[in-house]
Amino acid sequence: MINGKTKVFGLIANPVEHTISPVIHQMIYDETGYNGTYNPYFVPKGHLEEAIKAMKALSIEGLNVSVPYKVDVMDYLDHVDITAKVIGACNTIVWDKERLIGYNTDWIGLKAACDLEGIPISDQDIVILGSGGSARAVAYMCQHEKASTITILNRTVSKAEEIASLIHDIHPNMMIYTGSLNDLHLVNKGAVVFQTTSVGMHPHLDQSPIDNDLFFDKVDFIVDIIYNPKETVFIKKGIRHGAKTMNGLSMLFFQAVKAFELWTHMELSNEQSSRLLMELENLVYKEKRLS
Ligand code: ATR
Repeated sequence: MINGKTKVFGLIANPVEHTISPVIHQMIYDETGYNGTYNPYFVPKGHLEEAIKAMKALSIEGLNVSVPYKVDVMDYLDHVDITAKVIGACNTIVWDKERLIGYNTDWIGLKAACDLEGIPISDQDIVILGSGGSARAVAYMCQHEKASTITILNRTVSKAEEIASLIHDIHPNMMIYTGSLNDLHLVNKGAVVFQTTSVGMHPHLDQSPIDNDLFFDKVDFIVDIIYNPKETVFIKKGIRHGAKTMNGLSMLFFQAVKAFELWTHMELSNEQSSRLLMELENLVYKEKRLS
């Protein structure tokens, strides 16, 4: 129950009404007994700086940041963690004494999700479809975990090249290839694929960024960072071709766990995380708590 000692957290985004982050954080508070509340805050266009000032004025304990503010918010913080700088996006704001620090917990959430669900990264040939903010977090995670090669395929090849050069700057020996979504000869047999484009999401539910059966015959693991719908056309095709698959819900869950840990210095055990993730899947997909 909320009382005078309740710590306030939240999410700033536009739009914000479809978020399930308040549900995830409430589950974590219930599990740990932490006295917190997590609220969605709609920030109108042009009001981002005021939103950060409000965080300071109201002593809001921590904020997540989502579309479209993950990049611009870095201008209004006192310091941005080096990883968030490299990825070029900040999704978590944390107090450090009097200063606001920006972090990126997307990549570390994805890593935790892959670990739990048995998606291998080290020594693997990774293929990333798309070159937006999410692709950057995936590419950062893959170089950090010492993938064997990273191939970035995107509709706009120049954006894939930008990410490749960014990764080369921090990891000069990393083998990185880039191409368009048609360059399927760049995909190695047994590849681990991360689908980060918006294709397959509402209103493109019946579309897939790649349709070619030869591609699906080659890949062993498919991660689609979309979680609504539960199974995109891309995931469904992967399953039909025998790939092990994972959708984006566990990444979303673990980025929330990592944000909670940064804000409170408390930690969830593996057993707690796995159990809460199962409860979340039930809530979201069986009880249809998605709008
Ligand atoms: P996010 O930050 O979530 O990654 P984003 O920055 O909007 O989102 O990136 C969306 C990605 O989906 C981009 O790689 C985009 O390709 P372009 O760089 O060519 O724009 C990709 N995307 C969006 N619609 C697409 C479509 N119809 N076909 C192929 N790729 C698409």
